[in-house]
Amino acid sequence: TWNLGDWVEEQVKQISQTVGDGKVISALSGGVDSTVAAVLTQRAVGNRLYCVFVNTGLLRLDEAENVLSVYRNELKLNVRYVDASEEFLKALKGVTDPEEKRKAVGRTFIEVFEREAEKVGDAKWLLQGTLYPDVIESGRQGKGASVIKTHHNVGGLPEEMKLKLIEPLKDLFKDEVRAIGSILGIPRSILRRHPFPGPGLSVRCLGEVTPEKLELLRRADAVFIEELDVAGYYEKVWQAFCVLLPVRSVGVTGDERTYGYTVALRAVESLDGMTADWAYLDRELLDKVARRICNEIPGINRVVLDVTSKPPATIEWE
Ligand code: XMP
Repeated sequence: TWNLGDWVEEQVKQISQTVGDGKVISALSGGVDSTVAAVLTQRAVGNRLYCVFVNTGLLRLDEAENVLSVYRNELKLNVRYVDASEEFLKALKGVTDPEEKRKAVGRTFIEVFEREAEKVGDAKWLLQGTLYPDVIESGRQGKGASVIKTHHNVGGLPEEMKLKLIEPLKDLFKDEVRAIGSILGIPRSILRRHPFPGPGLSVRCLGEVTPEKLELLRRADAVFIEELDVAGYYEKVWQAFCVLLPVRSVGVTGDERTYGYTVALRAVESLDGMTADWAYLDRELLDKVARRICNEIPGINRVVLDVTSKPPATIEWE
């Protein structure tokens, strides 16, 4: 067993030697990996680390505000905020195919990030929070593996940018990254967060992504996560979220007929996201979540539970 404190010291030394007096740029997502990578690198190069946080318009309820406040006020990161919501929504207009959605978001992300990187000027290094399982899943080691999903990771940026990569977390698993984050003083509000895909809510809003559907999904997801947390399940599961289905069905509220959307609840247990089991949640919790979602969010009148493991399903629905 190796000592995490020693690991941190060693990495800081290495990053500092590698970068010299150069500039490093990084995209922050609000997630565990990019945040730990940034704070580690900040220890080595200080404000010569230039972070960019892009609001894709595909984030969860109040997510941009909350995350940015931690970055600026608690972690003192040198971070630029870019609200590119409109650009992403435009790129997604009319797109329904899951792979096309992923590509549209990935492409837009690169455009936005390149623009921001140019403003920093003469940065030579790109920091990425790549983990060991990412290296494997993206097939960097194996040849000929078929693409299951086009991964868009924050920081998964193009080779044409001519930046040299720094990937300090590439030998680690998620639990190790969380432990290191804790040593680095990163608040639990960040370290406890579930993984969230680069394409964000676009792959949880099935069919065409519209502002109206995103709003329904955001509100439903916030209810699920809040109740999950209150019931003590949030940190027991690997990941939990809502998916908005492109299906409407008939319901009744009071004595009024409704014709509303369906939300699926997804909660899984996993070690690294490569395989997963659906999580068995408490009946009362599920009941409360379903009631609250239907009562509080006009436009949704049905809640279903996803009881599929990976394989044969994937964790995300798209
Ligand atoms: P799937 O849906 O493939 O997801 O079973 C496995 C894990 O990866 C996350 N995920 C992504 N993470 N960029 C990411 O950074 C992506 O494009 C992406 N797609 C899926 C997913 O949330 C789960 O934790």
